Amino acid sequence: KSIVVLISGSGSNLQAIIDAIASGQINGRIAAVLSNKEGAFGLERAEKAGIPQIVINHQAFDSRESFDAAMMEAIDSHQPDLIVLAGFMRILTPAFVRHYQGRMLNIHPSLLPKYKGLNTHLRAIEAGDSQHGCTVHFVTEELDGGPPALQAPVDILPTDNADSLQQRVHSAEHKIYPLAVELFCADRLKLLASGAVQLDGSTLTPEGFQL
Ligand code: GRF
Repeated sequence: KSIVVLISGSGSNLQAIIDAIASGQINGRIAAVLSNKEGAFGLERAEKAGIPQIVINHQAFDSRESFDAAMMEAIDSHQPDLIVLAGFMRILTPAFVRHYQGRMLNIHPSLLPKYKGLNTHLRAIEAGDSQHGCTVHFVTEELDGGPPALQAPVDILPTDNADSLQQRVHSAEHKIYPLAVELFCADRLKLLASGAVQLDGSTLTPEGFQL
């Protein structure tokens, strides 16, 4: 399958997916990496892996609609089967999300539906939670609200601060994102018309599959 990855920053999740393709875990290829930020380190990772890079600076557009339309045109020129949001820090318009419905994944650093939005690690610690984690979900119009596919819980230690917890969650991300992409590319992971997620023919609970 053909994949387009959208990034805004470091791209460590992009790297994990590049590595999983190189090792044969994922049966797919990254057709292009798109960044809304020039100079994002993830672009260097793409360059090193021989993947075409696209930069579309959102600041050059006067509306989200026109920015998203430009992205759609660039993405669709590669005819991707899957769009992977990997630290892409722009809110997407409903038209963009609908266009890629069922074939766009995101990773979020919390056990959704808990802690949508930013600063999830600190919020989980301050709430006194014993577990935090990350979720790969299909993207729908609700921000961080699309149906989960895979979740990886990470224990919160008494000694944790936001940074130490973030590091361990990031490591978990680097395992579950390649796994989700692997399953999607093997046609084992699907978003059903009902809005539920199916893995190997079984409908998942609203938390997704827990690792
Ligand atoms: C990750 O924490 C991910 O959960 C969030 O953005 C961050 C991206 O990190 N959506 P990286 O650019 O893949 O290193």
